[in-house]
Amino acid sequence: MTAIEELKAEHEAVLLTIRILDKITNKLEAGQAIDVRHLEQILEFLKVFVDQCHHGKEEKVLFPAMEEAGIPRQGGPIGVMFYEHDQGRSFVQGLRSGVEGYRGGKDNASAEISKYARNYGQLLTAHIEKENNVLYVMAERVLSSEKMAEMAESFARIEETEIGPHKHEEFHKTLHALKDVYLTS
Ligand SMILES: [Fe+2]
Ligand SMILES: [Fe+2]
Repeated sequence: MTAIEELKAEHEAVLLTIRILDKITNKLEAGQAIDVRHLEQILEFLKVFVDQCHHGKEEKVLFPAMEEAGIPRQGGPIGVMFYEHDQGRSFVQGLRSGVEGYRGGKDNASAEISKYARNYGQLLTAHIEKENNVLYVMAERVLSSEKMAEMAESFARIEETEIGPHKHEEFHKTLHALKDVYLTS
């Protein structure tokens, strides 16, 4: 698997998480009780797997490599990607505060969860589409195979420091279990 293929595979896990989050939000909007632990598992996944690990690989390795290859950060797609990562972080923060409120029985917590879950899902779905179809295509064009191999090594180091093999396995298990609960019917 090349470095870019690895990032694309991670996108699939993010999209799956968004589909699960949407299902939970549907329940909430229909006035049904939800299992708040599932939202906490999703929050942990969004923080560690998506932000620290996946966005870390892009921001610390891929984007700088592309800049080095002559694609400017300001006024171009790389700047937009950075901006959207930040937006995603603030939506996750909103979602987290909604989930905490829900646990504490706060009145408008469901509406808060729903708002930030939808915002996050829409943002990241569009973001991933842009990366898969525009940015990554550009990267494959401008980066040499040596650079790609070097990036794969850097990714492995980020993976090791941000997640570790045990936690990685655990995330995939949790995601699979949530998939069985929400996406089977
Ligand atoms: Fe990204
Ligand atoms: Fe990405």
